[in-house]
Amino acid sequence: MSTPDSVPHKRRPRYTGKNPRRFEDKYKEHNPERYAADVAKVLASGKTPAGTHRPIMVAEILEVLTLQPGQIAVDCTLGYGGHAKEMLAKLSPGGRLVGLDVDPLELPRTTERLRAAGWSEDVFTSVRSNFAGLPKVLAGLGLAGVDAILADLGVSSMQIDDPARGFTFKADGPLDLRLNPSRPPSAADWLARVSEADLAAALTENADEPKADLLARELTARRAATPFTRTRQLAEAIRDILHLPKSDCGSELARDSARGQPRASSLPQKTVSTDDTPVRRVFQALRIAVNDEFGVLDLFLRNLPYALKPGGRVAILTFHSGEDRRVKAAFKAGLRDGIYSAVSEEVVRAGAEELRANPRSSSAKLRWAVRV
Ligand SMILES: C[S@@+](CC[C@H](N)C(=O)[O-])C[C@H]1O[C@@H](n2cnc3c(N)ncnc32)[C@H](O)[C@@H]1O
Repeated sequence: MSTPDSVPHKRRPRYTGKNPRRFEDKYKEHNPERYAADVAKVLASGKTPAGTHRPIMVAEILEVLTLQPGQIAVDCTLGYGGHAKEMLAKLSPGGRLVGLDVDPLELPRTTERLRAAGWSEDVFTSVRSNFAGLPKVLAGLGLAGVDAILADLGVSSMQIDDPARGFTFKADGPLDLRLNPSRPPSAADWLARVSEADLAAALTENADEPKADLLARELTARRAATPFTRTRQLAEAIRDILHLPKSDCGSELARDSARGQPRASSLPQKTVSTDDTPVRRVFQALRIAVNDEFGVLDLFLRNLPYALKPGGRVAILTFHSGEDRRVKAAFKAGLRDGIYSAVSEEVVRAGAEELRANPRSSSAKLRWAVRV
């Protein structure tokens, strides 16, 4: 076990048993940087340490963006700052990175981590914003255009790990699923009001759920008696509707669902439960709906060319077909209309080594474009 470095002693919460069971009590998950040896052990076992996020396809993204010292870049989805750290190293000396994230809870933590790593305000600017508002952010910073833009779509592992955010159905929590919890509606509110037809459409469009009609009919009928307010309550209702065995699905799978199609075979045995695939799909559909993920992605793709300097480069990592289709179509149209001089012809996928080390990379698709 690693020894935390010297920081003022703070008494840990009391819990029964050898290890904390509740997320709130898991002191290591809340301070991963203080438990480096434990984090390294988890990484070596091919898992993502709770409270952290492993950046995906870093080498491929850096190759595509060709960052140079002195350039200005934007990381539109700062998350844990894994890509940002690598980008900052390439932009130095003399360069600048603007990091955006819509999450008011994780953004200050990541900003603090990057500051502690030595990236000061003049090199790294952190902005809480939806990436749909990128033009406004750049205008506010007095930037007419930037050399490179990265967007790594979806949710981070930290967001999924925290049951209070409602992204996982492994632990019970409020049915929330918002990247910005201060912006309505929560998934519970959305599910309370959505029509049967719109719910069926969301399940199909956002998650390719084959039983969308049945689930939409049953869920809207059942909510009249008892509104859905908890993650496990909804998961149990879905299992009941589809006659699936009751299951205690692991967070690894829930995480992968949030990032796209899971590769159950590559996950630790005790968390494998292919039966919960429909539950994961419903949660994915709800997450995309409450965060209007396709709406903001469409707006971002429309604004993108105007945020890039001539010759500027963009890389976008997607995790399911609904996202990739949009990126592919926007880049293709941009090439046709003379906005981009080159775009990726094929998607770039994670290499074999990364797939082995981080199964979550299996659903990642990277596309890039170069501004005329
Ligand atoms: C997959 S994580 C990014 C991980 C990051 N690349 C890293 O290396 O740690 C996605 C992040 O994007 C944020 N996000 C998702 N949609 C967003 C949007 N429309 N605008 C801004 N941030 C968004 C999420 O809150 C989350 O922190």
